[in-house]
Amino acid sequence: MFKKEIYTNRRNKLKKELGSGIALFLGNVDAAFNYPANQYHFRQDSHFLYFFGLDHPGFAGVMDVDNDKDYIFGNDFDIDDIIWMGEQPKVADMATEAGITNTAPYGDLAGFIKSAMDKGQNIHFLPTYRGETVIELTALLGIPNAKVKAAASVDLIKAVVKLKEIKDEFEIADIEKAVDIAYKMHTTSMRMAMPGVVEQEIAGTIEGISLALGGPVSFPIILSMDGQTLHNHYHGNTLEEGRMMVTDAGAETQLHYSSDITRTVPVGGKFNERQAEIYQVVLDANMAAIEAIKPGIKYREIHFLAARTIIEGLKKAGLMKGDTDAALKAEAHTLFMPHGLGHMMGMDVHDMEGLGEDYVGYDENTKRATTFGTAYLRLGKELKPGYVLTVEPGIYFIPALIDQFRNEGKFMDFINYDKVETYKDFGGIRIEDDILVTETGYRVLGKHIPKTIEEVEAVMANPIR
Ligand code: GLY
Ligand code: MN
Repeated sequence: MFKKEIYTNRRNKLKKELGSGIALFLGNVDAAFNYPANQYHFRQDSHFLYFFGLDHPGFAGVMDVDNDKDYIFGNDFDIDDIIWMGEQPKVADMATEAGITNTAPYGDLAGFIKSAMDKGQNIHFLPTYRGETVIELTALLGIPNAKVKAAASVDLIKAVVKLKEIKDEFEIADIEKAVDIAYKMHTTSMRMAMPGVVEQEIAGTIEGISLALGGPVSFPIILSMDGQTLHNHYHGNTLEEGRMMVTDAGAETQLHYSSDITRTVPVGGKFNERQAEIYQVVLDANMAAIEAIKPGIKYREIHFLAARTIIEGLKKAGLMKGDTDAALKAEAHTLFMPHGLGHMMGMDVHDMEGLGEDYVGYDENTKRATTFGTAYLRLGKELKPGYVLTVEPGIYFIPALIDQFRNEGKFMDFINYDKVETYKDFGGIRIEDDILVTETGYRVLGKHIPKTIEEVEAVMANPIR
């Protein structure tokens, strides 16, 4: 946990922002894996962690904004728990660590909420993502299961986003720890990417590195020779010379801050001419985008700057043609990069995505696009110091998409389809880094993870067999 003053300050700021009512945060409970006593590794809710810090199942946190009081509801462990789990701290002692003196058994929460509702206090809660939480909210508030989602408080969502989107120095330091773990994961992945190795061997090894150095991976590892499939969780291919391998993987620290890094390497360790040419275009887009990051610029502009770099690079490679501005306006690059440039990152790898992407990545000045590809841009709004975000351009050759666009006669002025056809066996390339927006510009977080052609080849010249 951080120092207790940090949690007290966060709650005080949230109460001020919200103005009135009750803010109810249900922590997570243990979730069964294949039978009740065999459970998934416990993961606390990120919003509960941010305001109340306690990394244990079965707690609720309440801020009574009207009376400026904070509460933890939870049960002390009994002798059976202690026999199986060892001595455990008391709820009151844990709550003190988060700066809270008002505690009560979990069973008192229903009466507390009922009496608040009887007094006319508005109960604010965030959107849910687990069935157990929906059921509990129904029990506490009398809202039918099916209506819980729509009843989430927009005022609370907006207040939480306003606070959590700006990371403090302690959060940034923890994210850097997560990137440093990713350094080890990615350099290991590079050194293992040799012909004859099964993807699963690499994916399992780097997941182990995350667990050994911090916590679980921050999302299921994407690792494949078929990098043209954006979120490919199949790891059954045997690596072959002449193919490229995408690894998109990050770690969580013990405090649950994330990293999210992607690297793409040539199997065997040496780029061939065709691979080097396309790789350099993605790298140029990654670096041009990072260098343009500063407060006041909209992330959507940075997205289109990366897209422009990709169009120019692909024109040089003979895969695109025509006027760059016109191609950009038509969004012809979406054949090759049908996703957004990046997203906010924090405790959730897509930070706060469960609150609604549009609340996190957009605002009244920047509305989300509805066009193919660009609609997937998770972050479009103006950047502020303290934002942590990813920059992850890519170029993919997706045979089904190439066929569809060609059959529809789409972007005929901008795409050299005959040449693109010859790249259908190429796969995909993505290069992703985690960036802090500073007062004057940007900082790439964590230890530098090799990404130039020379750097990648140098790491791979020392393979792990
Ligand atoms: N790293 C996976 C993603 O950002 O969607
Ligand atoms: Mn990402």
